Amino acid sequence: MDKRFPQIIDSIQRFAATATDLQSLQEFCVKLIAEQLPYYNWVGFYMLDAGDPSVLVLGAFHGAPTEHTRIPVTEGICGAAVAQGETVVVDDVASDPRYLACSIETRSEIVVPIRADGRIVGEIDIDSHDLKAFGDQDRKFLEDCAGLFGRLIELSHAAK
Ligand code: SME
Repeated sequence: MDKRFPQIIDSIQRFAATATDLQSLQEFCVKLIAEQLPYYNWVGFYMLDAGDPSVLVLGAFHGAPTEHTRIPVTEGICGAAVAQGETVVVDDVASDPRYLACSIETRSEIVVPIRADGRIVGEIDIDSHDLKAFGDQDRKFLEDCAGLFGRLIELSHAAK
């Protein structure tokens, strides 16, 4: 087991204990994850638009700017993760017709849904310049991050 994964989860939990809002927590997560895991070349959150839950809206991200700031849930790997309600791993984006290109350097991608109160509210999206970059450990790590983030969203709902 790569020690960086539990260390990152620990740091996120510690930051979350004092975070005042979800935006600053997203910003902390994308920066920490991208810095600690160099093969995670683009790390970002997409959240379902509260006013139109058929569209994902780009939140905090770390990496090259993307033109895909709003993605319908019927499009892209990002949309597929919402539509399927599960993590989508693409080992070679060039061979997946659903793929929406952000960078010509991207070779593989993983998208992990975030659930709160039993519903998908958004997702964590990671791109790598390496082919087949994301294995079972990455998947487990990112699903743990998404679970943590989802629980914090539930707490913020409960506090309202
Ligand atoms: N590749 C994604 C679009 C978002 S970018 O990776 C930042 C997709 O196919 O949905």
